Amino acid sequence: MQQRDQSQPQQTQLFMKTMFWFLPIVLLLLPVLEVHGKVPALIVFGDSTVDPGNNNHISTILKSDFEPYGRDFAGGKPTGRFSNGRIATDFIAEAFGIKSTVPAYLDPTYDIKDFATGVSFASAGTGFDNATSDVLSVIPLWKELEYYAEFQDKLRGYLGNDKANEILREALHLISIGTNDFLENYYMLPGKSSQYTVVEYQNILLGIARNFITELHRRGAQKITITGLPPMGCLPLERATNIFFGSNCNEEYNNVAKDFNEKLSGAVTDLNKDLPGIQLVLSSPYEMVMEMIDNPTSFGFKNAAMACCGTGLFEMGYMCNKRNPFTCSDAREYIFWDSFHPTEKANRIVADYVVKHFLAAFK
Ligand SMILES: *[C@@H]1O[C@H](CO)[C@@H](O)[C@H](O)[C@H]1NC(C)=O
Repeated sequence: MQQRDQSQPQQTQLFMKTMFWFLPIVLLLLPVLEVHGKVPALIVFGDSTVDPGNNNHISTILKSDFEPYGRDFAGGKPTGRFSNGRIATDFIAEAFGIKSTVPAYLDPTYDIKDFATGVSFASAGTGFDNATSDVLSVIPLWKELEYYAEFQDKLRGYLGNDKANEILREALHLISIGTNDFLENYYMLPGKSSQYTVVEYQNILLGIARNFITELHRRGAQKITITGLPPMGCLPLERATNIFFGSNCNEEYNNVAKDFNEKLSGAVTDLNKDLPGIQLVLSSPYEMVMEMIDNPTSFGFKNAAMACCGTGLFEMGYMCNKRNPFTCSDAREYIFWDSFHPTEKANRIVADYVVKHFLAAFK
C-alpha cells in the first residue's frame, strides 16, 4: 500500500473522500438513464461468479442452495447464488432497466417468457477447459453453448424468427469464466501442470475463448462482453494457503491473471476486426477489484483479506453453512462472502464498473 502524503491540503483530502463515496452512486445511476431500451436481454455464460442456481439442478457437490447463502437476498432465500445476496449479473440487468434478477436456465420455475429478457447458463466450478468442469462434475462450457442453442429455438418458437433474431442481436452476452481453470485445475491437479507451462496453458484457454466467442457470433450474438480474470491471488482461500507470505496475496496467481487479461485484450481487438458487426468488449474489473482490496475503507468495507462466512479463511460451499459459528453478522463490511466469492455489496460495485465500461467502449 502507498504512504499517504501528510502534507496534502486538507481540502483536497476531503474532496477525495467525498468522491470515493459519491462516485459509486453516479456510476449506478448513469447506465439506467443512458441505455434503457437498447439492450432487451442479458444472456450469461460462465462460472460461480454468474451462476444464479443452475448447479441446484445437477448432480454435483458444488452447491450453495442452503443458509447462510442468500441471507440478504429478497426473502432471505438461498437460491444457489454463491453470495449473501444478488450477484453482479443481477445488478447489470437492473442497470440496463431489464429486471432485478437473472434466472438460471435449469430452474423449472421459469420458462421462455422469463428467459426472453435474460437467462444464465453459468455453472459454478466450470472453466474454459473441459477437464475443469470434470473436477466437480459441473456443466462444461460446450454444454452451456448447447443450452444456448436450445434457448434460441425456444425463443423463435415463442416470438417468431424476426423478433427472436432481433433480441439475440441486441442482447448483451456476458462471459465470466477462467479462474477455476487455474485454481481448481492447473494449480491443484497434477495433470495439466505436468503437460504444459502456465504460458502454454493460458494460450490453450485463450484459443477456447476465441472459439467460443466466434461460435456465439455465428449463432447471431453481436454484443458480447468478457470479464477476464480477477486478482485471483487475493481470494481469501489463496491468502490462507499462501503460507510463505503470511496473509498477503499470491503474486504469482495475480500475475497469471494479468497476463491472461492482456492476451485476451489482444484477442478481443482481433475478433472485433474479423467478425462482422460484432461489438466485443473486454470489461475486466481486475484493476478496480485490486483497488478495492488495497483500499477497502474507501469503498465502505472493513475487511478485504477475510471472508464473512465461517472463519473467513477456507469455507465455501458445504463448509459455509448455518452451523458454522464464526460467520460475520454484517456482510456489508466485507468484500468476500465466502473464501472464493464476493459479497452482494462488492458484486454491485463490480457490476457498475462492467456496465460503465461496456457503454464507454461503444458510445
Ligand atoms: C470438450 O468436450 C466436447 C464434448 O466432448 C468436445 O466436443 C470439445 O471439442 C471439447 N473441447 C476441447 C477444447 O477439447
